[in-house]
Amino acid sequence: MKKNIFAPIIYLGSADFSLRFKKWCQKVAVKLPLGRYFMRRRYAPEVDNLEVETFGMRFPSPIGLAAGYDCNGTLIDAMEAMGFGFVEIGAITPKEQHNSKHPSLYKLKNDRALLNCADIDSDGVEQVIENIKQRRSKIIVGCNIAKNTTTPDDEAPRDYLRLFRPLYQYVDYFTVNINLNTTDKPYVPCEKEQIMAILQPLFEFRRGQNQYRPLLLKISPDLTDEQIDMMADIMIDTPLDGIVACGGTIGRYGLENSTDVIHELGRIPGAVYGAPLKKRALDVVSRIYERAQGTYPIIGCGGITSADDAMEMLQAGATLIQLSTEFIYGGGKSMRNMRLGLNERLRKAKHLQNKNE
Ligand SMILES: Cc1cc2nc3c(=O)[nH]c(=O)nc-3n(C[C@H](O)[C@H](O)[C@H](O)COP(=O)(O)O)c2cc1C
Repeated sequence: MKKNIFAPIIYLGSADFSLRFKKWCQKVAVKLPLGRYFMRRRYAPEVDNLEVETFGMRFPSPIGLAAGYDCNGTLIDAMEAMGFGFVEIGAITPKEQHNSKHPSLYKLKNDRALLNCADIDSDGVEQVIENIKQRRSKIIVGCNIAKNTTTPDDEAPRDYLRLFRPLYQYVDYFTVNINLNTTDKPYVPCEKEQIMAILQPLFEFRRGQNQYRPLLLKISPDLTDEQIDMMADIMIDTPLDGIVACGGTIGRYGLENSTDVIHELGRIPGAVYGAPLKKRALDVVSRIYERAQGTYPIIGCGGITSADDAMEMLQAGATLIQLSTEFIYGGGKSMRNMRLGLNERLRKAKHLQNKNE
């Protein structure tokens, strides 16, 4: 294949590079003596209405960082200092894999969205454990686990167990990611037998442990409503603790203002994240909430760009929420606004409830 001599220059101007640089700054800043103090002061002002108790844990805020930002667990302390209530690291694969050609992340600014064509970028489970051991903050850490791309689909359950076992003592909860859809070799199992083949060995391993680690399933927004119901039934009928709804979509809806970019990129495979996902994510969350009659925690994720969106997701039935695209676009400032805005909305809601009682 012909090599593009301008590739390094193109990379410097890409969303991949600016994201890498931003993460590097956050990682360095939190290690400086005053860095953590200033990050907290600037981005994580004191609030008193955000605490949530779920999964047997106390979350200081329901706003968490979604998987895909802190891929290898090197930013846990920085995310705590920026005001997140919990961090989901990963996706982590058993073996190291860095398959992506850069650039592979595209900003669709006019629609507050991202198109990601990158394969999972993972340093492998052993390195990630070393990274987690370096953390200093006590923030709740979840771990998003996935199979290696080279692992054949029918051997996927073995990969998930190979991650679950060594990581078990180092994180607070696990998310089984079954929405690997950013490349032309997607892995999105949606048959009950396939999913139970992954979950059953994890349940069995957990049964023999002294500590309990909640286990969640992260699902695709591209499932049919019947498949969403089947996922909810798995949660109700098995020891699964919750669902993360949703991951990215292979759909190209909600991108009316990015037709030029989409045209330029052609019909490349990849997942879309951000604002276009909001409606479907809300529908999926409320569908699962109703099916489970509100008895199971759901983490709502997809298209949350403001405190109003966050509130809408909680009202649809989510117990916790996660952000990714909005944090990539707006950074700490977005976090601060959402934290303060949601705090205010929840304060008002509580006040109204007390008045009506
Ligand atoms: C660059 C990038 C990488 C991602 N990687 C993962 C991943 O490895 N595992 C996963 O479950 N979700 C991954 N996601 C999806 C997010 O966790 C989230 O589900 C999705 O972006 C929807 O939320 P948002 O609209 O707030 O971005 C990734 C998202 C982005 C933007």
